[in-house]
Amino acid sequence: MDATIDGTRLSWQEAGGGERVLLLVHGFPFNASMWRPQLADPPAGWRLIAPDLRGFGASGPATGARLGMDRFAVDLAALLRHLGIARVTVCGLSMGGYIAFALRRGAPKLVAGLVLCDTRAGPDSPKAREKRLHSAERVRMDGTAGVIEGMLPRLLSPVTKAHRPELVDEVRAMMEAAPAQSVAGALIGMAERPDSTPLLRTIDVPTLIMVGADDEITPPGDARMMARGIRGARLEIIDDAAHLPNLEQPATFNRLLGGI
Ligand code: MLT
Repeated sequence: MDATIDGTRLSWQEAGGGERVLLLVHGFPFNASMWRPQLADPPAGWRLIAPDLRGFGASGPATGARLGMDRFAVDLAALLRHLGIARVTVCGLSMGGYIAFALRRGAPKLVAGLVLCDTRAGPDSPKAREKRLHSAERVRMDGTAGVIEGMLPRLLSPVTKAHRPELVDEVRAMMEAAPAQSVAGALIGMAERPDSTPLLRTIDVPTLIMVGADDEITPPGDARMMARGIRGARLEIIDDAAHLPNLEQPATFNRLLGGI
């Protein structure tokens, strides 16, 4: 489905149905199709909405040099308004988690619950920030191949890489579909994102935190830190998964999602 909202074309996929709405926010540099196993098996009683973020998938192109987390959050709030939805549980993976924090900061009334997957509350270290800004520069000059080759080996667990070559291909294809301008813009947006650590103690909605046991990009230590900071948060560490547990271990991920 798609609609032009506040001048931008936004595209999204839907599945399931019910009173409760789960907004699935994809990571970088993916698109809504990364939620394929969740859209195929929605938890009972939930309506799932999986948008393509601005600049990714079938949504309108990124304009300007920077795609900030707040910009994405404003788009998502506008999409929910367009759909007449007042409250959602936001499930964000990695960059999607940074955007979930931005939504909670900018539109707290919208957020009825959080599912934070393979993400972190802290900002980039000065070194990581510099590396990201340098990558954005390289993407602008040489395209996205360097970023993809750098990320791909770290995205999936050894078990996934050994037994599911088709998933490795699927993830690579999703990354290759992302336009260079969007990739560069989101790298800058992530480098500039604020520290969400102070937000953690203000979170008063049901929160589930999930992470792949083999995740090197946002390791289980980051998930534990968020779990310690959010009152009543539940932490689940998923074996034989790295940065994309929803694709690597969909049955476990979907069961946990069904328990929120
Ligand atoms: C993602 O999967 O969204 C990215 O790995 C996030 C990041 O690089 O910080």
